[in-house]
Amino acid sequence: MVSTATRHAALSTEERQAALFADAGLSRRGATLRVGGVALSAIAEATGTPVYIYNAEVIRRQYGVLDQALAGVPHRICFAVKANSNLAVLRVFRDLGAGADIVSGGELSRAIAAGFPPQRIVFSGVGKSPAELEQALLAGVGHIHLESSDELDKLAAIAERLGKGAAVGIRVNPDVTAETHPYIATGQGGIKFGVPFDQVMPLALRVHAHPLLTLDSIAMHIGSQILDPAPYREGLGKLAGLVAELRKAGIDTIRNLDIGGGLGIRYKDEIPLDPVRFLAAVRPLAEETGLTLVMEPGRFLVGSAGLLLTTVLSRKHSGGKELVLVDAGMNDLVRPSHYMAWHEMVELEAAGRPDVAVDVVGPVCETGDFLARDRTLPGVVAGERLAVLGAGAYGFVMASSYNSRTRPAEVLVDGGRWAVVRPRERVADLYAGETPEPRWETNGGG
Ligand code: LLP
Repeated sequence: MVSTATRHAALSTEERQAALFADAGLSRRGATLRVGGVALSAIAEATGTPVYIYNAEVIRRQYGVLDQALAGVPHRICFAVKANSNLAVLRVFRDLGAGADIVSGGELSRAIAAGFPPQRIVFSGVGKSPAELEQALLAGVGHIHLESSDELDKLAAIAERLGKGAAVGIRVNPDVTAETHPYIATGQGGIKFGVPFDQVMPLALRVHAHPLLTLDSIAMHIGSQILDPAPYREGLGKLAGLVAELRKAGIDTIRNLDIGGGLGIRYKDEIPLDPVRFLAAVRPLAEETGLTLVMEPGRFLVGSAGLLLTTVLSRKHSGGKELVLVDAGMNDLVRPSHYMAWHEMVELEAAGRPDVAVDVVGPVCETGDFLARDRTLPGVVAGERLAVLGAGAYGFVMASSYNSRTRPAEVLVDGGRWAVVRPRERVADLYAGETPEPRWETNGGG
């Protein structure tokens, strides 16, 4: 196995920021930070902070890089909607001709609202409710990926009741270990994801025997933020073997080999998993199967395309620590506190002040509410703004209203213009539907 060290580069702060700026389409004109040609201070001034900003040009660039790398192979790219489900972002993908990978009825509704043709939607998701399966069948979702035989029972019953057929895949747990944060490794045994390898054949035969269901895909997703192609090759090798066995058993309907998402990006010093290198590792096996290669990337397509802007509220010195308190917290961007993830932070207006070692903390009432720890940052003062980089994937979508904080606005930048594509949540939205005076039910009581 390649050592971790070879997948990280030793970069100076300047080199790191130059690389991250290029990834994100960021530049400075004078002191002012710009994205896609638009001054970020102007957006922050108009919308207030915290606010998420997405750069459509970077999204298209990332899609193009991957699509180009896959050019010689029959393929489909289905954007993992969970990474960023704003309708305007989804529309960028739809217009590129991408499909959508969804994991819930809510994401299905979003994908349809954004205009994805249902047949280009893959329904993954480790636990689908009967209502969600029915919604998918009625919508004509192109591929429903099974996670268990219980799920097949439910899907078959609903298909029979509706008299509606469906193309089905099986998400296999290939039992390979990808080196990443343990919370986002999904390909090894003993975890909830996928059908264990040795249980795939009986499940596939059951699908094949069902008059309304067609087994058209074999799938895996081994984890997220993966920098090494080796576990993909290992997993794909297992899948290819499985496809051969299924064919031998008389199943002649499989058309797609879905190898999931997971391509890692640069947050700090990572060497991103380059699609060309990635494809070189998986191509021979994929071609051997003769199937269409399906990918479900999320982070690779949108991670670097997004920023979170935040304003410094105050500074404190306590217990030998310098604390910068900002108006974005763990409810807005949970990745630092949940995964100890690094998100680069830079000033919106560079003031040329010397660096200080600080913790950047949020306003939420938790000690674990931080955006950065032991970070070297220019000595920013109250009222100044910072951009948090690499926030396009698993940023807004994981935001909550903890502490009754309204979720941030979202802005799309494209071609030197920008638009609010979701206004800041309003406090009234937070408790709409609640009442201080319950209407009691007595049924079941006493
Ligand atoms: N397909 C399936 C079935 C998935 O479960 C996922 C992500 C993807 C595709 C897309 O993976 P990507 O290309 O984005 O790595 N919240 C975590 C990441 C969780 C990923 C969950 N599944 C984070 O902030 O790092």
